[in-house]
Amino acid sequence: MNASGTNTSQSHIALITGASSGIGQATARRLSRSGTPVVLMGRRQERLDSLAREITSMGGQASVSVGDVTRVDDVAAAVDVAGRMGHLGILVANAGIIPIEPLEDTELERWHRTIDTNLCGLVNCVHTVLPAMLQEKRGDIVLISSVAGRQTFPEASVYCATKAAVNHFADCLRVDLAKRCAKQGGHLRVSTVQPGIVQTELLDSIEHEPTREAAKAFTESVEEPLLPEDIAETVAWIIESPPHVSINDVVIRPTAMTR
Ligand SMILES: NC(=O)c1ccc[n+]([C@@H]2O[C@H](COP(=O)([O-])OP(=O)(O)OC[C@H]3O[C@@H](n4cnc5c(N)ncnc54)[C@H](OP(=O)(O)O)[C@@H]3O)[C@@H](O)[C@H]2O)c1
Repeated sequence: MNASGTNTSQSHIALITGASSGIGQATARRLSRSGTPVVLMGRRQERLDSLAREITSMGGQASVSVGDVTRVDDVAAAVDVAGRMGHLGILVANAGIIPIEPLEDTELERWHRTIDTNLCGLVNCVHTVLPAMLQEKRGDIVLISSVAGRQTFPEASVYCATKAAVNHFADCLRVDLAKRCAKQGGHLRVSTVQPGIVQTELLDSIEHEPTREAAKAFTESVEEPLLPEDIAETVAWIIESPPHVSINDVVIRPTAMTR
């Protein structure tokens, strides 16, 4: 493990938020398999430590930065960890929650928490990594959005709104960064990955039990949902594409998903 590490690699370092489970965890494994040193961020230290040990035992490089994306200081600390390893060239902004419940029962705090995590937390990460990427004029920002940013789902208005906002944010940012690199040989790319149903722990963040059970039943009704590894493979494809190729948005659903 390389938590206190100095400049040990010429590869771009990848900061992955929400690396303690699901899509983030699978992405960390996948990127480290192709030689990318990773910084694992999330709130559950044991999970992150265990993943870092696993990656290190396979010959990869992984550092842990325990933190909450809604806290700017925590994000800055994660970026510092990456900076000590080398050039932070990849951000996979993946941390997210879906604490939905029927409108009649919705507490304003849950709406705020959803926006704080899925949108403000993601913006915190992008804002913090930008200076180094702008200086180097290279980097990849991959934002994990959702099909919920393109279509609406019942009782999920704020969750859907956060994902739609991420899509617009990405589209504007992509153009703004491309302009700053044009004719200077730089490559600063922004992409979204917009998955349908993926088999992860995400629905456990639904505190309202009947809603959680209904959401799980809907998920289980889809034959062969996506696996986190399917999304990780997509992220790797985006990042590993030739520098002049910018894959803007990838919508990816289980083949059997009918809405
Ligand atoms: N699963 C799906 O069907 C699906 C579909 C479309 C989009 N997505 C999106 O995919 C992303 C990853 O979700 P997942 O499906 O992999 O679910 P997951 O297994 O529950 O992973 C969510 C991750 O986010 C982290 N996280 C949550 N709040 C955080 C915070 N405040 N600060 C730092 N980390 C935080 C969690 O780690 P800690 O609890 O340790 O902090 C966890 O590692 C989310 O943005 C989600 O909206 C999922």
